[in-house]
Amino acid sequence: MKEFVKNYKLINGVEIPKIGLGTWQIAPGKDAYNSVLMALRHGYRHIDTAAAYQNEKSVGDAIKDSGIPREEIFITTKLPAEIKDYHTAKKTFAKSLDLLGVEYVDLYLIHAPWPWNEIGKDCRAGNVEVYKAMEEFYKEGKAKAIGVSNFSPEDIENIIGNCEIMPMVNQIGYFIGLDQKSTIDYCNAKGIFIIAYSPLGIGYLLKNTVILEVAEKYSVSAAQICLRYLLQKGVAALPKSTHEERIIQNTELDFEIAKEDMLILDSVKGDPRRWS
Ligand SMILES: NC(=O)c1ccc[n+]([C@@H]2O[C@H](COP(=O)([O-])OP(=O)(O)OC[C@H]3O[C@@H](n4cnc5c(N)ncnc54)[C@H](OP(=O)(O)O)[C@@H]3O)[C@@H](O)[C@H]2O)c1
Repeated sequence: MKEFVKNYKLINGVEIPKIGLGTWQIAPGKDAYNSVLMALRHGYRHIDTAAAYQNEKSVGDAIKDSGIPREEIFITTKLPAEIKDYHTAKKTFAKSLDLLGVEYVDLYLIHAPWPWNEIGKDCRAGNVEVYKAMEEFYKEGKAKAIGVSNFSPEDIENIIGNCEIMPMVNQIGYFIGLDQKSTIDYCNAKGIFIIAYSPLGIGYLLKNTVILEVAEKYSVSAAQICLRYLLQKGVAALPKSTHEERIIQNTELDFEIAKEDMLILDSVKGDPRRWS
């Protein structure tokens, strides 16, 4: 079995494939439909979407048309960051299930601890309220796992202190150059699994000369180095692409980056958006 479809296990025993297709900024309609269908045909069994991406219907249609049994595909979707009340959370989750055309999702996440246009706002009470709704989805079997995204240790402490079920996942921006050490150390200590979003630094990492040199040494692409690096860190990763050759390339991860080269990649620092 290829490395990218092997599973990690969450604290509640649910299995999650190492590589998932990201779908942020893939337009609803034929783009999202075709990307997801291509990915499934090339062996992906993990798809990441969100209500905010507005492509859940296309993602769900592609999953249905793939003919792959539902239980073989790990589907994540997310509660929009601006929703911080129980009733809207319940309604929004029901709509996501409906658009995806499924009875359950494998993972449901709070997209962020604050609305995107009010980053840092104190939404502690609202996060507890919506997480309590998510605990119900979990108990009803409509979400096989629940968790958070973009949460700091303090944001997670607020959930743990006021809710019943430990979040199983924290999905965070994690890629070469952004080590996320304090959040990852905290999550590891609590058994909260890390899923790395923007694993290619939204594409900007692929021009980095250090990464390109390591890629040349292993006769792979910069994207493959970025993804293999994250797998060797023990996290799942969500590369997004709409191009078939890249969707395939991002699954070819059956090589090992030597310890000394991992250290070289660890030494890369900073925001890749400023490296061009
Ligand atoms: N929870 C959150 O708040 C959050 C935030 C951001 C992202 N995410 C999730 O994480 C996923 C991935 O993150 P992302 O979309 O920010 O970016 P990413 O996966 O780091 O990078 C995507 C970019 O890299 C390009 N690319 C992909 N594979 C490539 C390859 N092999 N060679 C060259 N270029 C390649 C893509 O272009 P093409 O598409 O043109 O091929 C696209 O421009 C998202 O789609 C979403 O599912 C979650």
